[in-house]
Amino acid sequence: MTDLRGFTTDRHRTVDDTPYGGGAGMVMKPEPWAAALGAVLEGGPAAAVGRPAVAGPAPAAVPGAATGPSAPGERPVLVVPSPAGEVFTQATARELALREHLVFACGRYEGIDERVVDWSREHFEVRPMSLGDYVLNGGEVAVLAMVEAIGRLVPGVVGNPASLVEESHADGLLEYPVYTKPALWRDRPVPEVLLSGHHGRIARWRRDRQLQRTAARRPDLVASLDPARLDRADRAV
Ligand code: ADE
Repeated sequence: MTDLRGFTTDRHRTVDDTPYGGGAGMVMKPEPWAAALGAVLEGGPAAAVGRPAVAGPAPAAVPGAATGPSAPGERPVLVVPSPAGEVFTQATARELALREHLVFACGRYEGIDERVVDWSREHFEVRPMSLGDYVLNGGEVAVLAMVEAIGRLVPGVVGNPASLVEESHADGLLEYPVYTKPALWRDRPVPEVLLSGHHGRIARWRRDRQLQRTAARRPDLVASLDPARLDRADRAV
């Protein structure tokens, strides 16, 4: 973590100023950002954090998890959280989990002087990234969410990698509802099929629930499903 104020040169350690052209709020100044990002690139006080080493045997490859290292010598990725960025999705998390160096630039106020973003493209692959169509006060909470979504896809982070396969968004659908013991709770039974031990029927029931739930809660996801990945029973749901 890097404190931007450590890269200021004035007595008040100023990181923001009024916007050219007028308007409400403050804009983050370019000089401290350039100095801080330069230090990250040089591996100085704010060295970029590499992929964590994982002890023990190499985990098996699992669909949904990141599967290979990024190309050697590629530029670090600079993620700039912003409501004006591209939307961060599970696909983005999968992509970024493969990268060797990720740097997150958390802005506050009305944002960072755009010239910092332009200049950064000479040294980083810059990815302005939004958590969704709403506005937070700053990028920190967005970065926490992104780091968790990315980090859990790095092999070895999640204890049972099979859990990455059947969760929401792994296959473009929301996950099916889950139940545990007792089989009857407050007059509510667990769906009978789940007690049947019949793997084929259970798989079909779960897939149907995924499709129904996704259609009800996220019709936008259904619209973007690849029809080639739907079987005949899927289409009947
Ligand atoms: N900063 C402020 N709002 C944000 C959002 N929706 N996503 C990412 N960063 C942000």
